Amino acid sequence: MDKELQQKYLNEIGIVVWQERNFGNLGNLDRPQISPKDSINRKELLNKNHNQHLLDLQEQVKTCKECALHQSRTQTVFGVGNTQSDWFIIGEAPGSEEDVKGEPFVGRAGQLLNSMLLAMGLPRNEIFIANILKCRPPNNRDPKTDEVDACRKYLKRQLELIKPKIILALGRIAAQNLLKSDIPIGKMRGNSYLYPNSNLPVVVTYHPAYLLRSPRKKRKVWGDLKFAMQKYKELT
Ligand code: URA
Repeated sequence: MDKELQQKYLNEIGIVVWQERNFGNLGNLDRPQISPKDSINRKELLNKNHNQHLLDLQEQVKTCKECALHQSRTQTVFGVGNTQSDWFIIGEAPGSEEDVKGEPFVGRAGQLLNSMLLAMGLPRNEIFIANILKCRPPNNRDPKTDEVDACRKYLKRQLELIKPKIILALGRIAAQNLLKSDIPIGKMRGNSYLYPNSNLPVVVTYHPAYLLRSPRKKRKVWGDLKFAMQKYKELT
C-alpha cells in the first residue's frame, strides 16, 4: 500500500503520524500468493474440501445448544473472511447488530476495525474474523466461563482448518481466554505469545469498542498493529 493511502486510513482512525521512518517497510506486507496456473485444478479440489469442512463446522455451530445462549440468540455468528488467510482476528462475542446480521464486527466497532485493518494494508476480505463466542450474550455482558468452554472447540477447529500464520486478539476477553491467562491486557500488549499447544503467535491489542470510548489509546493500538505486522514479516 502506498504511503498516502496508509496516511488516509490512519487519519480515519484518528492517528496523526509524525515520524515516517518505518513506513516503507511496514506498508509492504507480503500477501499470500495466488496459485500458479498449472496447479489450479488440484488447488481447486483442495479448496473445495477445505471449504466443505468449514461449511460443515458452520452447520454444526448453527444448531449448537451447548450453552444457554442458544435460547436468546437470533442466530449464530460463525465468522467471515478469507478462509485461507494468514491473519485470524479474534474478538469477544457478537453484539446486537452482529446477532441480527450473523456477521462479526458489523457495528461501529467493526467500522473502526475495518479502518485499522486497512491501515495495516489488510482489507477485511483478506483476513478471517471470528469471536471467542459464536452467540450474543444478553445485554452484551461478559461471556461466562461455561459459555467460553462450550464454544472453545469451534474456534479451535476454525484455526485448525484455516491455518493462519498469526492471530490478532482484540481486547481483554479475547486475549485472556485465548491464552488462558488472567494477566491484564495492558501488561500483555507489546509481546507475542503462542496459542496453547501450537506455534501460532498471538498478538494482543485493545478492542475497537474500547477505542471508541477512549480514543487516546489509538496511538498505542497503532503501535500494536505495527508490532503484529513486524512479527508477521519475520514469519514469512
Ligand atoms: N465486538 C466483538 O468483540 N465482536 C463482534 O463481533 C462485535 C463487537
